[in-house]
Amino acid sequence: MSIIPQDRPTFKVIHLYRCNALISRETFLAFQKMYDEIVSTIANCREEDELWLYVRSLFDFDDYADVVPINAANLSIIFNPVQVFMNAMALDWNRDISIQKRIKPFVYTIQAARALIASQLNVEPEYIAFMRNGSDPNAVINNGMDFGHGDEVVVWNENHPTDGESAWNIRKDRFPNINVVVLDLEGEEDEDKIVQKFLSKVNKHTRLVTFSEVSHLSGMHLPAKTLVDKIHKKNKSVHVHVDGAQTWGSFEHDLKDLNCDSYSGGSHKWFLGPKETGILYMKKESVPNFAPKDIGYNGEMAAPPCMPDEPLPSDCSRFEMIGQRNDTNLIGLLYTADIMGLIGFERIGERIKALATRLRDGLDKVRRELSQRVFEVETPSELSQYHGIIVIKFADEYNTAADGRKRKGRKKGEAETEQPELSVVLYDKLYEDYNIGVSTKKGNRMRFSPHIYNTEGHMDRVVAAIRFELMKILK
Ligand SMILES: Cc1ncc(COP(=O)(O)O)c(C=O)c1O
Repeated sequence: MSIIPQDRPTFKVIHLYRCNALISRETFLAFQKMYDEIVSTIANCREEDELWLYVRSLFDFDDYADVVPINAANLSIIFNPVQVFMNAMALDWNRDISIQKRIKPFVYTIQAARALIASQLNVEPEYIAFMRNGSDPNAVINNGMDFGHGDEVVVWNENHPTDGESAWNIRKDRFPNINVVVLDLEGEEDEDKIVQKFLSKVNKHTRLVTFSEVSHLSGMHLPAKTLVDKIHKKNKSVHVHVDGAQTWGSFEHDLKDLNCDSYSGGSHKWFLGPKETGILYMKKESVPNFAPKDIGYNGEMAAPPCMPDEPLPSDCSRFEMIGQRNDTNLIGLLYTADIMGLIGFERIGERIKALATRLRDGLDKVRRELSQRVFEVETPSELSQYHGIIVIKFADEYNTAADGRKRKGRKKGEAETEQPELSVVLYDKLYEDYNIGVSTKKGNRMRFSPHIYNTEGHMDRVVAAIRFELMKILK
């Protein structure tokens, strides 16, 4: 089946911008040329290596002059054609911001982006709300419900603070009578036992269970579908929220099949989208259980409902009354979704997993080669239990003073130290001497998270750098 660029929503929306004089002729023609190339190249690529080489060329960083990002769990690089178009549009738009010219095309952009993203997740568009990032939808979940005395909320202790114990303890200020139950899997890697541990926290008082599909701390990938299913079987009225900040875009998702009550994510991580965009999906029947946390203009750029005469929307648009936004982000989101869909989420998932596995194998080899146990790979090794994040934990006893530099303490107000954690020393070294950007985590940990802008060469380079630096330290 041939793919015609002009039939795709990104083209239609950007053409409408031109027809409304929202963008200049030059901006439109430059977009058209690039878009035709992207669509036809990806659609006609038969060889995997050729595809990934082309995809790599869509990101504008230089392998040696610029820092190589291996940190998608934190922030990703945007496809360069998307960023270039967003920049050009921002400049063009800034010359004339008339209401007449922007409402129709911008509302159309939101609808087109919503329809495409919903179809990629196999849900209806009305049940996707565009949010600002990955924290924003979590705030809907932890702000929107009303609780009664003794209601229970179950959180995994590896949830992000916006969806974990911290957020829910703040909610306890308003609902002092709820019981926040924190689940620690204590290193359990047996899938049945993981499910049993979750179920042991669910009872007739449980209103909500929420967990990260992939942990930002350990990289552990939970068996989300089985968990949703078993939790509902135990108590069908429990709302199960899956935090997909570390998964949306990183592999194929079918939310209907997952059957969670809500799912969320920010687009600037694995979806490769613009900053300040994210999603919240919620099941139709769950929407009435959550009050909106924002009362601004809605996704049709209409004023908020005039309560109490007008009822709140019964679909997810009730969560999208976010007011004025940076509209260039929304075309950026659509354009990104289009390219991601063209590549295919299954292929993207396999590529990320292959890169993460190569990295993990390389690190494992270094660990075995070293005369001492300097670090452990903490992320579970079972193929189904990790995806794009690999976390290593260093032993604390290594003397890093020879490195010769003082570093700030990790905690606020902590004095400079001559004995920084090994994770911090290596994090700085990778950045300063090897042009590689990773992240550190509390407890002397380092986190790697490669994406499709990375190559096998990047994985080998970071492994070789760690090996070399550790050998030096051990001497
Ligand atoms: C699991 C998880 N949820 C939520 C968030 C918050 O997302 P954002 O930074 O997009 O607000 C993060 C960020 O790292 C995360 O890892």
